[in-house]
Amino acid sequence: MTCETAAAKPGAQPDQPVHRPASDAGFETRAIHHGYDPADADGALTPPVHFSSTYAFESAEGGAARFAGESTGYIYSRVGNPTLDLLERRLASLEGAEAGLATASGMGAIAATVWTLIGPGDEILTDKTLYGCTFAFFRRALERFGVRIRHIDMTRSDAVAEAIGERTALIFFETPANPNMRLIDIEATARAARPRGVPVVVDNTYATPYLQRPIELGADLVVHSATKYLGGHGDLMAGAVLGDAETIGRIRMEGLKDMTGAVLSSFDAMLILRGLKTLGLRMARHCATAEQVAGFLETARTVARVHYPGLDSFPQRALARRQMRLPGGMIAFELPGGLAAGQRFIDATRLFTRAVSLGDAESLVQHPASMTHSTYTAEERARHGIADGLVRLSVGLETPEDILADVAQALEAAAEAG
Ligand SMILES: Cc1ncc(COP(=O)(O)O)c(C=O)c1O
Repeated sequence: MTCETAAAKPGAQPDQPVHRPASDAGFETRAIHHGYDPADADGALTPPVHFSSTYAFESAEGGAARFAGESTGYIYSRVGNPTLDLLERRLASLEGAEAGLATASGMGAIAATVWTLIGPGDEILTDKTLYGCTFAFFRRALERFGVRIRHIDMTRSDAVAEAIGERTALIFFETPANPNMRLIDIEATARAARPRGVPVVVDNTYATPYLQRPIELGADLVVHSATKYLGGHGDLMAGAVLGDAETIGRIRMEGLKDMTGAVLSSFDAMLILRGLKTLGLRMARHCATAEQVAGFLETARTVARVHYPGLDSFPQRALARRQMRLPGGMIAFELPGGLAAGQRFIDATRLFTRAVSLGDAESLVQHPASMTHSTYTAEERARHGIADGLVRLSVGLETPEDILADVAQALEAAAEAG
């Protein structure tokens, strides 16, 4: 056997101890407690972090039994590790999923999932707008391996039912979409896909399970960049896939173990577990401040357009209310002066940090066309609804008045310099 884990079966994890609290506890309670009982770790309030890469077998026969999936127990940390296991169970609970898989990045989660579920000649149906590196993975990498990527306007309610075909192996979308905040109706999309047996994968990075739970709305799998709100502190890279136990087991043993090796470190898993404890609090505050900022931008004379699901002017406001608990902490807006005016605004900010990524305590500002979505050509951006002048804000947790004051002074400075 050339691969240390080659024969290990998806179920080869230790039996789970009985955990408090009951899985019907509230979101915040599960975000703090689910899957861990201090009695299992000498009373330690905080779960121990397991750094071991490999696990001892009691005998040659015992090791063989673990590889054969005939006995439970850890084998090697690329397949399972107690700290990752806790994070996976906690995230699964928060997303309303049966099982979870932690990965080294959001792209690791997407790649491990997609490589597992598709093959040459298959088609992926996806929305027009995707995060830049997901777009690049689909269009620049997967197409080289004979996978067809079909972009449709998934904001149209009948688009998926019309487009789904014999070769459709996967439906993938983000909602809200990065960067232009388009929403896709998860329930309607899942309803259209179900009779054809095509799995629906939702990137829930922008919303987090605090705001939106795609699996409860009929989606099959959820992927995350846990680098963002789930971690929440801008100090790690991570991802996750949540879904039914059988599919997650396959993604673990194929997409993660053999195809990408995108394994999360247990130290970073511990940081995400810490971040999750305040996810609800943080999301509520991100949303409350973002609502104020979006409202302010909308009334500002120098702003052409604001894309935020909490505004009455947002074209999909009704869907936002139905699908999301709150409208989120991300805002996109356009200035009448297009790209140059957007860049002037970005350069004039003082509190906002000019940086990609999102979901951190720090407010961040970036220009998608030249940064996160520069993987699209200019023609592709035009076709896919990503305006060159779009500015993206990740509204942080600083004092709301300070955030608003920074936006106001940067708008003024951008207008004066124009
Ligand atoms: C919506 C979305 N999905 C996936 C990713 C990829 O995540 P990561 O950067 O953790 O690989 C990102 C990153 O910005 C994202 O915004």
